[in-house]
Amino acid sequence: MSNDSTRAPFPGHPGAARRVSDLLPAFPWDKLEPYKKTALAHPGGLCDFSVGTPVDPVPEVIQKALAAHTDTPGYPTVWGPLELREAIAGWLHRRVGAGIGPQAVLPTVGSKELVAWLPTQLGLGPGDQVAYPRLAYPTYEVGARLCGAEPVEYDSVDELDGSRVRLIWVNSPSNPTGRVLDADELRRAVAWAREHRALLVSDECYLELGWEADPVSVLHPEVCGADHEGLLAVHSLSKRSNLAGYRASFVAGDPVVVRELLEVRKHGGMIVPAPVQAATVAALADDAHVAEQRERYAARRSALRAALEAYGFRIEHSEASLYLWATQDRPCWETVAELSRLGILVAPGDFYGPAGERFVRVAFTATDERVAAAVERLTAAS
Ligand SMILES: Cc1ncc(COP(=O)(O)O)c(C=O)c1O
Repeated sequence: MSNDSTRAPFPGHPGAARRVSDLLPAFPWDKLEPYKKTALAHPGGLCDFSVGTPVDPVPEVIQKALAAHTDTPGYPTVWGPLELREAIAGWLHRRVGAGIGPQAVLPTVGSKELVAWLPTQLGLGPGDQVAYPRLAYPTYEVGARLCGAEPVEYDSVDELDGSRVRLIWVNSPSNPTGRVLDADELRRAVAWAREHRALLVSDECYLELGWEADPVSVLHPEVCGADHEGLLAVHSLSKRSNLAGYRASFVAGDPVVVRELLEVRKHGGMIVPAPVQAATVAALADDAHVAEQRERYAARRSALRAALEAYGFRIEHSEASLYLWATQDRPCWETVAELSRLGILVAPGDFYGPAGERFVRVAFTATDERVAAAVERLTAAS
């Protein structure tokens, strides 16, 4: 009987011996809800800069490729057709300067799932450490916790325990700060990781969105000396091609690690749908839509940046990515509350670690019309 309190709960029910969600951090976005309500009540409507989700159309060349591949009744493969892997390798060569063959790339179902499950899929667990930047995309910590490894934050890799860290995340350009690591900084991280035989995984999903810096990949020969052993780069089409809805991304680097991931992910059924595989080929072959989207973001970025600065914000880093990392030198939740009264919603910096508690992250992924509305309100209140 379900009301018999002497019997163990079903797996997944509250009180079950090992409920995975109990290991994970609280999902913080619920805390923003009251501020969203306030912002929504503004007579001019909500200007939502809290989430880095694309709002512009999926480029036509990509929509057409998807539509041309709707009749795909059979199972696609985890590795995808050679044409897809060659498209990925070709893009890495052309845009990233990485000489890599199609045997060293692997499509993934959006990069978030890879970030969350990579430590598990590589067999990490209790006793191991997974390290990530002190201010970071929260899923690096989630990935460590899902496999029972210890999550460790770092400012500099030199402070890490080389005997325990098995996987190190770097993220350049960074979410949330927009900071770019130069080739020298990346070289030092690679050298440390190689010395300690830790896998260095570089999350490069904003690589094509540099504004005042030219982001460089960990796979660039200037950084790794054209040797990809112990290195992976994670890429996503969500941001550069407005494809967050498609779940199109890939990982590339050390061919031995890529092969191991392929084996594990084949058993796990982690397959990119065939129409999305075809859309990815089209997206990677076309640079024009990326240039066009960059122009949209550049205009929104400079308008918002100027209005925020005039209002009294200081912007730190933010030389790349889709975010302005802004502070009024006071607690982030006070800023969130103040902006919500102007109908503007931003993300509090402490979502990305306690080090962000005096910053907010402003995503310039809203329409031109919403950006103009926010600029007008900030200017009027300056
Ligand atoms: C740093 C970083 N990595 C990974 C992702 C996940 O992107 P996706 O799963 O859409 O590829 C995001 C999304 O915002 C991100 O900011």
